[in-house]
Amino acid sequence: MPSQRLPASLEPNALSAELEACALEGRPYIDLTLSNPTRCGFEYSGLDAALALRWAPGYEPDPRGHRDVRAAVAAYHGHGLRAEDLILTASTSEAYAWLFKLLCDPGDQVLVPSPSYPLFHWLAALEGVEARPVPALRHERWHLDLAGLEAACGPRTRAVVVVNPNNPTGHFLARDEWAGLLALCARRGLALLVDEVFAAYPLEPAPGHLPTALEADGPPCPLFVLSGLSKVAAMPQVKLGWIAARGDRARALLEPLAFIADQYLSVSASAQAVAPELLRLAPVIQAVVGARLRANLADLDRALAPHPHLSRLPVEGGWTVLLRRPALDPGEACAVRLLREARVLVHPGHFFDLPGDGYLVLSLLPRPELFREGLDRALAALVMSEREAQ
Ligand SMILES: Cc1ncc(COP(=O)(O)O)c(C=O)c1O
Repeated sequence: MPSQRLPASLEPNALSAELEACALEGRPYIDLTLSNPTRCGFEYSGLDAALALRWAPGYEPDPRGHRDVRAAVAAYHGHGLRAEDLILTASTSEAYAWLFKLLCDPGDQVLVPSPSYPLFHWLAALEGVEARPVPALRHERWHLDLAGLEAACGPRTRAVVVVNPNNPTGHFLARDEWAGLLALCARRGLALLVDEVFAAYPLEPAPGHLPTALEADGPPCPLFVLSGLSKVAAMPQVKLGWIAARGDRARALLEPLAFIADQYLSVSASAQAVAPELLRLAPVIQAVVGARLRANLADLDRALAPHPHLSRLPVEGGWTVLLRRPALDPGEACAVRLLREARVLVHPGHFFDLPGDGYLVLSLLPRPELFREGLDRALAALVMSEREAQ
């Protein structure tokens, strides 16, 4: 294991201690961080029958993944993607690991977005690679800091990672940011990795946004687009992700990437057997999940309306919303207080590298009745602490 600092969400902290105490003492709480769709009470009609026992009796390993499954992924995405542009993985995390092995030597760097998904640090560190965070800027909406990215590039920088739309900020890349990013990667000889696991969940208007990097035709740098069934079909348990190579520069790297995949052959035949059917049903699943996200967001707005000091940021896409509160105390102390006093779990913003103490991170996936009740309790506790501070 690399001897590096644990990401904030994994460090032993007051919130994890309070969660342990809840478990030990049997204290129930409403989990407003729940992002595991299999625990959010979704029902998709026809799915059980469609998937009933697709046992794959034979073993015909292909390091890139079964061609029919790759063809199904290509058909799902469109944009001229072909089966031969794809490599299947067991998850998006594995896709990152293989791409870091492909693109980097130990000691190299990749630039990663901040705020973002807290796994980048470890996914890179486990490959001996440094994930260097480049903070996004926020004026009205979040923006990629192209000058900051350029300044962070060093002689050992090999790739830029972006998440479209980002988690937890929910912002899509704007088309001008995208053009700047492609130009920067071309100029600096960097590969570009675009994680689009949440691209199927646009929520609020995002003027001039890039719906998917798969639109890029002939990008001037190696471009890899990552996604998988954990969000596309809201089924993380299937364990199937993929890497799409866009443009000749990325396609030229598919053979060494397949060599890496061949050492693992990690995608199970059973996962591949159900994948085409899940991809066919994905739009139905996304509609069900999308309706939940919208309903919870509308409830959040109703609950926030009477509280002028509390607000939320726009959610262009994804499963997460950022709540703004007056930073009266450290974010973690606030989360512990909400868990202890209101029996509601939320994430403090610093778990995702959000700046300052004024952000709380909530999942929009929980069942509506739990979301509403958790929210009412959390907002009442936040308002109470504001009154006490006055
Ligand atoms: C941005 C982002 N990428 C990837 C993943 C994980 O995907 P997978 O389950 O395919 O590893 C997540 C999970 O929340 C995520 O937020």
